[in-house]
Amino acid sequence: MSTAITDFRSAASEEELLELEQKYCSWGDTVHYLDPPKFFERAEGHYLYDREDTPYLDLQMWYSAASFGYANPRLNQALKDQVDKLPQLACQYLHAEKVELAAAIGRLNASKFGLDGRVQFNVGGAQAIEDSLKIVRNSTGKSLMFAFMGGYHGRTLGASAITSSYRYRRRFGHFSDRAHFVPFPYCFRCPYGKKRETCELYCVDQFAKNFETEYKSFWDPKAGESEFAAFYVEPVQATGGYVIPPAGYFPALKKILDEHNILLVDDEIQMGFYRAGKFWAIENFDVAPDIIVFGKALTNGLNPLSGLWAREELIAPEVFPPGSTHSTFSSNPLGTAVAWEAVRMMAEEDFEELTRRKGAYFLTQLRELQRRYPKVIGDTDGIGLALRMEICREDGYEPDRDLTDRMFAEGMKGDLDARGRKVGLVLDVGGYYKNVFTLAPCFDMTEEEIDISVELLEQLIRRCAPDRLSR
Ligand SMILES: Cc1ncc(COP(=O)(O)O)c(C=O)c1O
Repeated sequence: MSTAITDFRSAASEEELLELEQKYCSWGDTVHYLDPPKFFERAEGHYLYDREDTPYLDLQMWYSAASFGYANPRLNQALKDQVDKLPQLACQYLHAEKVELAAAIGRLNASKFGLDGRVQFNVGGAQAIEDSLKIVRNSTGKSLMFAFMGGYHGRTLGASAITSSYRYRRRFGHFSDRAHFVPFPYCFRCPYGKKRETCELYCVDQFAKNFETEYKSFWDPKAGESEFAAFYVEPVQATGGYVIPPAGYFPALKKILDEHNILLVDDEIQMGFYRAGKFWAIENFDVAPDIIVFGKALTNGLNPLSGLWAREELIAPEVFPPGSTHSTFSSNPLGTAVAWEAVRMMAEEDFEELTRRKGAYFLTQLRELQRRYPKVIGDTDGIGLALRMEICREDGYEPDRDLTDRMFAEGMKGDLDARGRKVGLVLDVGGYYKNVFTLAPCFDMTEEEIDISVELLEQLIRRCAPDRLSR
């Protein structure tokens, strides 16, 4: 049979594939952020390999979805075993892995926060965010949310409504449920021009002022009711540039939310599963959320699975009955099997100690790089293995997006020198001004490999900013 749809060869050259891509693939995703887009052929550990088999050291690990290493043997095996056992099952029926995984997360949260709750699975992060919005709306009867400027919760319509960037909403009509966006405590660029050492959390006071009188539009003191149902937070802003809030911020915020019956929804999709040095990033900040949303690294980027955990009162069958949400793939057995294995792996190894130790080592190296190149690097910070490096102009403060883009593209050329080996460097650019390298290295990296990573970053600086090498 020879028809148009069978008329293709699988051994097309990269040029031919690019031609097909130009014509047949939607450009609506993020592939064309890089020009020309890049093909990879295989992946192992913290390396991606292109079609010429050049290794690219990956410092973003699929935005932290593959934290445990590409082709992690234990997790890959769990997937293969499940393919041979129960590869498919309609989500209407039960399988053991789903139930055990939900129980593990439920027990874990009971031990961490002293709260009972239940888990609802879905497939992608944004879909789990949608489910959480349903739970919030269902339990409060309200549809308005607070969220942070610089926050990112996904690109479905509901998730876009609570994601501050107007760019993601602009062409898609009116968002009547658009969140009220509150400045995040981004202390390097304090939205109020304060200094961390002396501000006494001025930003929290500003938020509290919204509830002083009904005329501030948030609160009816007579009814004792807020128009807002929940505050969506990322404990450490991810796409926003791995921005870490100061100590004391979240407890002070939570106090205000509690006083006004506003739920705290914790988006752990990128920072969960030890990226920020704890199972949940929010554990670093001494507050108990009402809902936790998770995804990405739960399956190490294998068969996707996301989900949410909600406090019992919000998700008990009496309030969130059968049929309240559903997706064909929501608790797919391949995803739950890998996730169940991943959660057991996380219980067996001390990832808290590992991510904190390696993160501290990496951050020390980054700070040394910043000391040597103050005309390029304005800020470095980190928590666990979530690290940031902010690229600035010579004054060390004005964001330098052009240089960031050039460094990013230079890494993708694949011709850096890793102690005699030709490699590329895969980075991710985030931040309010798109001038932050958000580093999410693989948990498996050794100190020597961290040293090599920093040497590669230095090569990018020396190639892309030769006129700014002096101190
Ligand atoms: C914090 C956060 N929330 C939500 C999402 C959306 O997840 P997904 O891309 O799987 O829909 C992301 C993705 O980057 C994220 O980082």
